[in-house]
Amino acid sequence: MEIILLGPPGAGKGTQAKRIKAEYDIPQISTGDMLRAAVRAGTELGKMAKKIMDTGGLVSDDIVIGLVEERLKEQDCEKGFILDGFPRTIAQAEALDGVLGKLDRKLRHVVSLEVDQDVIVERLGGRRTCKSCGAMYHVKYEPPKVEGKCDKCGGELYIRDDDNPETIRNRLAQYGEQTAPLLNYYGEKGLVRGIDCGTKSPDEVYSGIKEILG
Ligand code: AP5
Repeated sequence: MEIILLGPPGAGKGTQAKRIKAEYDIPQISTGDMLRAAVRAGTELGKMAKKIMDTGGLVSDDIVIGLVEERLKEQDCEKGFILDGFPRTIAQAEALDGVLGKLDRKLRHVVSLEVDQDVIVERLGGRRTCKSCGAMYHVKYEPPKVEGKCDKCGGELYIRDDDNPETIRNRLAQYGEQTAPLLNYYGEKGLVRGIDCGTKSPDEVYSGIKEILG
């Protein structure tokens, strides 16, 4: 099952990708997580990416395409994969078509997570992520049992550096300019199904996604 989760920052791509991964046993490929791992590791890529991510801009197409191409060749992707945060530009989508063609694979679903801007700002402002296992919480909508601690592993919860009002504004602008055109790109291929993520709980959104995946 080859899936793209498309949606603005804070729409719930990571939240839903984790649920799909657990149930369908296919990997979540998040370019944001890959880049954050490089930042933590202090690699040259990480240092370069951090400067861009902190402003809310997009890392260069060549870099993320290279990361995803290598990842898609790994064995655990044979049954399928969930792309979370990739592609983000038309150039990335075209490159993905080329990579999938070479691997003799085909996209099955592009799920568009639809949510209004004011909801996004509230979601990103309240997001907390576990430093150890990556589990995600929201102070209001999915609070941890103990403030600041992960329910699953007891790890420390942190606020992402790019979840501040100015960077969020820029991430949203980038989404509108660079990523939203992908809805047409995949719409013309008959692949896009939209789902309202702004008024539904994560569980309700997930039920809708399962209906789409069939
Ligand atoms: P990335 O990590 O991909 O961030 P993003 O796209 O901005 O998305 P987020 O991770 O912020 O949000 P999400 O949609 O996953 O929402 P979540 O599930 O966390 O990218 C970060 C940066 O890396 C980019 O800005 C760019 O610089 C770079 N980058 C990454 N990929 C790139 C690429 N392909 N090309 C170039 N650059 C790239 O949910 C958010 C919060 O809301 C959570 O607290 C959650 O608990 C809560 N929530 C979720 N669903 C619901 C719901 N239904 N109801 C209530 N609360 C909910």
